[in-house]
Amino acid sequence: MWLALLLATAPAEAARAYSLLSYVGGDYASAVGPRREVISRQELDEQIAFAADAATDLRASGAADLAAEADGLRGRIAAAGPPAEVIALARALSGRVAARFKLVMIPERAPDLRRGTGLYLQACAACHGVDGTPRVAHLELTTQPTAFSSRQQVARLSPQRIFSAVTFGVPGTAMPSFSDALDEGERWDLAFAVLLLAHPPEERRRGEEIVRRLPRRPDWLQLAVRTDDQLRITLQQSPFSAEDREAVIAAVRSTFADAKVTTAGASRGW
Ligand code: HEC
Repeated sequence: MWLALLLATAPAEAARAYSLLSYVGGDYASAVGPRREVISRQELDEQIAFAADAATDLRASGAADLAAEADGLRGRIAAAGPPAEVIALARALSGRVAARFKLVMIPERAPDLRRGTGLYLQACAACHGVDGTPRVAHLELTTQPTAFSSRQQVARLSPQRIFSAVTFGVPGTAMPSFSDALDEGERWDLAFAVLLLAHPPEERRRGEEIVRRLPRRPDWLQLAVRTDDQLRITLQQSPFSAEDREAVIAAVRSTFADAKVTTAGASRGW
């Protein structure tokens, strides 16, 4: 429903600008290092293009002030500004965009992981690999599809970010938009199912036994907006070993507590 709601209240460009700014916030550190050294020229060019596209989208949405901020952000990226500064700017700006246009990107119901996994095999496996490891030898792509089987590569992806990538695609890459092919519920099911690929089933089973000792497990709304790295940070306060914490993450990604869409739920320990 959110896209329909969004169209009633905000231009689609505003949602795309939000999503582009989230990429900058999420990925800039892989383009430029802490001493402003360029790690990847290609990644940096992509980030410049994202900020420029965000400015165009914001202008088209009638938010000239936010567009000017996006231009400023693009300037800092083009100058290879320090990650701490650029990421903070991108996050603050995407927050202002979300607030101005009242964007809510959260699922309406608990995800159906079985359906999501089926959709993954149909729509994504050709590029991202049946088991989340892309078999890229057959693909002539300018950028490589994300390896969902790699903990390191998915560490910064929340279901919300995956939903956004599936909805809008990643501009300038082979990653297509599925907003016409898949309805919103299907895209959310996928977004949650993708994050199972980095956690083998036996680890999930072991994690389930440990989770029973926790006072509560996170609900699906909390999980929708959290990356695995954020879950790791929360679990650092737990008495579990590093291995057990990974097993806990595997378990909570595959079975979740109930949530009410009306509660943000962010302040209940997770
Ligand atoms: C035609 C090949 C192709 C198909 C099909 C495809 N992807 Fe991708 N995907 C890519 C490429 C290439 C990238 C890397 C984009 C980049 O360089 O940032 C990517 C990146 C992503 C990302 C990471 C985005 C981010 O924020 O970093 C997600 C999530 C993703 N794809 C999910 C999916 C899902 C889910 C499906 C199926 C519905 C899918 N993709 C289908 C090629 C594809």
